[in-house]
Amino acid sequence: MTDDFQLVVRPKRRQKFRKAKQFKDGIISFGSSLTPESQESKQSILQKLQKCRNEIELSDFYTKFQEILVKKISECFLSCHYEELMTATDCGVSNETFGEISPEHNTSLEETFKHLLSLQDDTSSLGHQGLPKDESSSQLKMEECITQLAQLKLELVAYGVGHFAECKIAQYQLALMMAICDQFKLSLYQCYTYDPVWSDIEKSVIHSIGVSLVSKNEEGKRSCLSNKLTLFLMPHCGTALYNNLLWANWNPSQLRNLIIIGNSFQNLVDRHSDKDLQEKAAYIYKIYPATEEIALSNTFVYSDIFNDTSIHCFPMKNLKKLPEDLWLDRSEPNYNLSDIEIIVNK
Ligand SMILES: C[S@@+](CC[C@H](N)C(=O)[O-])C[C@H]1O[C@@H](n2cnc3c(N)ncnc32)[C@H](O)[C@@H]1O
Repeated sequence: MTDDFQLVVRPKRRQKFRKAKQFKDGIISFGSSLTPESQESKQSILQKLQKCRNEIELSDFYTKFQEILVKKISECFLSCHYEELMTATDCGVSNETFGEISPEHNTSLEETFKHLLSLQDDTSSLGHQGLPKDESSSQLKMEECITQLAQLKLELVAYGVGHFAECKIAQYQLALMMAICDQFKLSLYQCYTYDPVWSDIEKSVIHSIGVSLVSKNEEGKRSCLSNKLTLFLMPHCGTALYNNLLWANWNPSQLRNLIIIGNSFQNLVDRHSDKDLQEKAAYIYKIYPATEEIALSNTFVYSDIFNDTSIHCFPMKNLKKLPEDLWLDRSEPNYNLSDIEIIVNK
């Protein structure tokens, strides 16, 4: 993604391949079938998003946010993929996880990974408030390592951003997604988004910023690959959407590969009785004791965009402590639809 939204202008030779792969992956692209008026409003939305993105990237909020995120992603990479990475780098083989690894790429991957391990030791004193200043160069190196690994092992999915054509909150949240994609140099095939309320103009904007639009309402039931880390950006989404996502990944090998940025589970638990939560969001209730939650401090200039937002991870060491029979009951959530903030498939 670039500053002036030119990412989608790609060499013709590659466009053909990309189109075919998009259909295979179940994502859709939007051509330029918009009227001149719609094109005009699309350009105006793109400009607004660019402005929001600049504001986010320059904010203290984002500096802190990305420090925490890089640290969490590196912990997940190291704990979830240690063996795979070592096997792949030791043998220089192609395997399911990494695809074909060229000797050159193999060496740099091995170096990257070892470097990441050493940095992890250096920065183990990181608190939730971010790194002390004198460790900022370690942080920078860690970011470089994560960026390299992210291109192989990271996906980003944003649900429920809302009507960003007119809503400021949605514009800033989408801008955050763009900033994350850019920071980790994620491609079109690593970034997905969906909100059932989007207009054709909004869908067309999504295409223009180089993010893939999910083609159907998954109701949040997206089962993630256990050999990749998936980051879900879901600020202020309905509780049922988080609950569905947990249900769709209800086993330790998938859950440890999820990071959810969204409404604080802690606050949810505090605000509801056990009985209420068990009825409305059984999977949040069950996973809560094993959740590692880092509350984002709400320092952004507008206080209603990232309030009540936390980063949630599910480390294996915590999951292992849960009773084994917890994983056996995985009945699909069933809601009283008048009661919840989710749009379901008709
Ligand atoms: C409470 S609003 C939050 C909007 C915005 N993120 C904010 O902070 O103001 C919940 C959003 O979730 C979206 N939503 C509802 N059902 C959804 C689904 N099945 N998949 C993705 N998003 C969904 C709604 O359209 C709405 O935009």
